[in-house]
Amino acid sequence: MTKILAFGASNSSDSINKQLAKYASGLINNATVELLDLNDYEMPIYSKDREKKDGIPQLAHDFYNKIGGSDLVLISFAENNRSYTTAFKNILDWMSRINGKTFQEKPMLLLATSPGARGGGSVLETALKRMPFQGGVVKGSFSLPSFNENFDTEKGIISNKELNEQLVNIIHSIEL
Ligand SMILES: Cc1cc2nc3c(=O)[nH]c(=O)nc-3n(C[C@H](O)[C@H](O)[C@H](O)COP(=O)(O)O)c2cc1C
Repeated sequence: MTKILAFGASNSSDSINKQLAKYASGLINNATVELLDLNDYEMPIYSKDREKKDGIPQLAHDFYNKIGGSDLVLISFAENNRSYTTAFKNILDWMSRINGKTFQEKPMLLLATSPGARGGGSVLETALKRMPFQGGVVKGSFSLPSFNENFDTEKGIISNKELNEQLVNIIHSIEL
């Protein structure tokens, strides 16, 4: 069984990226899924001074260890001002102080969605460029545009057949 660690890179309680991460991870065969909520990993904003004074928070170690214990990291990125959310970036910054290769050579599937037509394309681009330098082995990526038109939140599935097929094909092409 493949152990998937999945999360929406957002702290919204009704995160559309958490919904997409949940749906996508459910498409992977022979897998167990742990879906994290970033709200459970809220820490003080990273600062060198805080690190010097108090060290790295236990929650950063906990998240880092979750990555270490997984076989695939699936992230769906929320886009704020074309970039990562503060909630995700803060966790990333703290974890990067444990190990710059934060993703520990784990295979990764990178997704993004937003209500807009670009579907979080900018933050996804940023992540795709960055993850290889941060110890992530990117196996595939997918952006879901116009979330409200293309995702059925009641059923928790992508309602647009073509886009759903694209995601299914990407997932089936991943060799773990
Ligand atoms: C401060 C802020 C900045 C945003 N910037 C962008 C953006 O640059 N591009 C975009 O597509 N959506 C942007 N949005 C809209 C988000 O994509 C939308 O709120 C989405 O639901 C966030 O994902 P989440 O539900 O997983 O938290 C922004 C929203 C906020 C609150």
